[in-house]
Amino acid sequence: MGNPGSSPSVPRHVAIIMDGNGRWAKQHHLPRLSGHEAGRKSVKQVVQAAIDHGVKYLTLYAFSVENWQRPREEVQGLMGLLRGVIREELSEMGKEGIRLRTIGRRQDLPSAVREELEAAIEKTKNNTRLDLILALSYGSRVEITEAVQSIAREVKDGGLDPEKINEKTVSAHLYTHDIPDPDLLIRTSGEMRVSNFLLWQISYAEIHVTPVLWPDFGKKEFSEALADFARRERRFGGL
Ligand code: FPP
Repeated sequence: MGNPGSSPSVPRHVAIIMDGNGRWAKQHHLPRLSGHEAGRKSVKQVVQAAIDHGVKYLTLYAFSVENWQRPREEVQGLMGLLRGVIREELSEMGKEGIRLRTIGRRQDLPSAVREELEAAIEKTKNNTRLDLILALSYGSRVEITEAVQSIAREVKDGGLDPEKINEKTVSAHLYTHDIPDPDLLIRTSGEMRVSNFLLWQISYAEIHVTPVLWPDFGKKEFSEALADFARRERRFGGL
C-alpha cells in the first residue's frame, strides 16, 4: 500500500474498454443494440464522474477496427447511435467544457458520422476541462503500423537518420502524439485482455478489471476504480 509523492492519486488519463453490452442485453432478453443504448447512459455518467474527479483525459474504446466484422445491422446501429450521441450531447459538451477528439481511422466511418464528428471536434476545440477521446475504427497494431510507415517515409526522404529514432520518435507518430499515456486502464465485464487497445501507450498503466457489465457501470464504479488506482504504488520499473 502507500502512495509515494511522485504518484498523484488522481489519474490524469483514464482509458476504458467498455465491454459487456451484448451480455447485458442477453441477460435482459433484449436485442444487442439495446445493450449499446444502455451503454450510452454509462458513457454519460462516466464522463461526468471523470470531470468531478479532476481527470483531464478520458479515452473510450467505442469501436475497434475488428468491430467492422460484426453483422451489418449491429454496425449500422452503432454508427447511428454514435451520430445521435454527438448531435444530442454537443451543447452539453460546450457547457461542461469538454473537448471532443478521436483516435483511429476516421476515414473508415460513414460520411454522415464523420461530418457530425468533425463539426463537434471543431466546435469544442477550445474547451479545456476534459479531453474526451473516442477510439473509433481504432486498432493499436494498425496505429503502430501507420507510424512505422510514416517514419520510414521520413527516413527515405532523407530527413531522418535511422540511428536517431528513439521512443519519442515512435510516440510522436502515433494518433496520441499530443496526449499523455493513460495512467489507468479500466476494463468492464471481467475479460482479462487488452484487445488491441493502446498497446504502446499502456506500458506503465495500472489495470483495473471489474466483472460489472458496461451498462451497469456508473459513477460509483468509476470512483471505485479510482480508489483502486490511488492504492497502487507505481514504480515505473524502478524500486
Ligand atoms: C462492447 O460490448 C461495446 C461496444 C463494441 C460498443 C461500445 C459502444 C457504446 C457504449 C455505445 C455508445 C458509446 C459512445 C461513445 C457514443 P460488446 O458488444 O462486445 O459486449 P459483449 O462482449 O457482451 O457481446
